[in-house]
Amino acid sequence: MLRVVVLISGAGSNLRAFLDDCNAGNVPATVVAVGSDVNAPGLEHAHRHGIPTFVEPLATGEDREAWGKRLAAAIESFTPDLVILSGFMKLLPASFVERFAPMLLNTHPAYLPEFPGAHAVRDALEAGATETGASVIVVDAGIDTGPILAQSRVPIHDDDTESTLHDRIKIVERKLLSAVVRDIASREDSIEGN
Ligand code: GAR
Repeated sequence: MLRVVVLISGAGSNLRAFLDDCNAGNVPATVVAVGSDVNAPGLEHAHRHGIPTFVEPLATGEDREAWGKRLAAAIESFTPDLVILSGFMKLLPASFVERFAPMLLNTHPAYLPEFPGAHAVRDALEAGATETGASVIVVDAGIDTGPILAQSRVPIHDDDTESTLHDRIKIVERKLLSAVVRDIASREDSIEGN
């Protein structure tokens, strides 16, 4: 069973869906810990499932490398096979990325390379786009520039607000993430079986 650590910064609705998929046997993975850079409300989903959590805040003025090392050590104590950034909103230092990539995934609420960054849904609306999307990528040293593992288009409706559009995108993101992890798990199985 693939051991997964998930990092979040917010509501964790995608984390909740992923936990449900794992528990239902739809994804052969176990979330062994959930971490955050803040006291995120989404940590509650982990608590409800009895999954350990940790919080590693980036202190004001703290060196990002030092923070990255603390965060990496907290993650590694759970010996994960895979780390998923699911709404984790802090930029990670390159040394962190090198430590975990390519087994370091990020979900993003746009059809990359369109609308990278922290405000992808708002940016798509402000650009007057008629469609956007959702992507699951491998994290690299850039901002949302890593290899794309899966993505789907999502239409933008005339009456969409940032919130209604983001909600529709998240439904697609959840399916993509579970499909990607299923795929990784099946490849790991075949490697182990050799
Ligand atoms: C998701 O849409 C995720 O892709 C996005 O934050 C949301 C988290 O929602 N991440 C980014 O924008 C990263 N650039 P959630 O907390 O309800 O799961």
